[in-house]
Amino acid sequence: MPGLTAPSDYAEEPPRHPALRINSKEPFNAEPHRSALVTSYITPVDFFYKRNHGPIPKVEDLSRYSVYISGLVNKPIQLSMADIWALPKYNVTATLQCAGNRRTAMSKVRKVRGVGWDISALGNATWGGAKLSDVLELVGIPKLSSVTSLGGKHVEFVSVDKCKEEKGGPYTASIPLKQATDPDADVLLAYEMNGEVLNRDHGYPLRVVVPGVIGARSVKWLDSINIIEEECQGFFTQKDYKMFPPTVDWDNINWSTRRPQMDFPVQQSAICTLEDVDVIKEGKARIAGYALSGGGRGIERVDISVDGGKTWVEARRYQKDNVPYVSDGPQSDKWAWVLFEATLDIPANAEIVAKAVDSAANVQPEKVEDIWNLRGILNTSWHRIKIQSSSCIGRSKL
Ligand code: MTE
Repeated sequence: MPGLTAPSDYAEEPPRHPALRINSKEPFNAEPHRSALVTSYITPVDFFYKRNHGPIPKVEDLSRYSVYISGLVNKPIQLSMADIWALPKYNVTATLQCAGNRRTAMSKVRKVRGVGWDISALGNATWGGAKLSDVLELVGIPKLSSVTSLGGKHVEFVSVDKCKEEKGGPYTASIPLKQATDPDADVLLAYEMNGEVLNRDHGYPLRVVVPGVIGARSVKWLDSINIIEEECQGFFTQKDYKMFPPTVDWDNINWSTRRPQMDFPVQQSAICTLEDVDVIKEGKARIAGYALSGGGRGIERVDISVDGGKTWVEARRYQKDNVPYVSDGPQSDKWAWVLFEATLDIPANAEIVAKAVDSAANVQPEKVEDIWNLRGILNTSWHRIKIQSSSCIGRSKL
């Protein structure tokens, strides 16, 4: 693509905040410390996790950059950045979460394959851009379409980055046309993140943001969009982000037996103010963390236990004044996480647990063992913190 180029090595990577924890240097995969997540409802760009599969593309000349939209449509078009800027602009606050978030904890049950992540492979940003449903109207696809007159049922996004999983080819993913053309699904071609121009790590000059589904579908450094009949056939849709039962291993895997993962299946919650094994003074401590669900389902409540799940108290949502805890009201950012807190008496040798319930009454699974899968994705199990003997007081979290 003229204007946007993909280096084949890591010599020209962008600068990154030194506080990020690097899980893999090349390609660059990093997350903030968990305590940084709960300091603000909107995650600062510097502390937003970075998930890459190759060297970061570069814009040589923005005036030459364009996105080509073609495939099973009657009138393919080429859109420059000026064309995209001219469309109505929307700001959507949405949490992006990598399907591999909390993989490290799953790998302790049994080995899994993939980059290890603690609990911070997610972030909440306000994305600014054009709605994909408006863009697709420009190629003659009306809003709320499930199929085009030429038989197109999926929208494929193609990038330019050189990914080794694709033998040097670009990152790709697709979503159903029905979702892409639904204005209420809020799928964006985003050029801003938290009111600033997107930076290189997060997809400059243009990325897709698909709220409510795993981060893998939000393709960065967009090069072209194809309207296709079947789901995208690329590696990252067909041979990667799929959820297998615990009986499947690398000797008997048959990728075609499972569908590509889209929504978060059930919600996620995690405690950010403590390490998984921690030492705190006996007495009162503030427990805070995040909770979110897929598909725009709001969080109904978060329960906290200090005795490993025998008894529970309800945590309080704290990030937005006068907004009800259930986050599916019109002004309550249905695609975004909620931050919760509770101040509790912590007994000696406590096991602190967080468990969220969403607006459809889905509850996080209790044990990571029950949802183990060989790719280590979607670890949505209860988050547990073990407090070690409080008589040996190392440091206070109060
Ligand atoms: N898009 C491209 N082109 N290349 C990638 O490696 N990674 C995907 C997605 N889009 C990826 C991509 C994955 S797996 C995730 S979780 C999100 O981008 C991460 O977005 P972020 O780095 O902006 O946090």
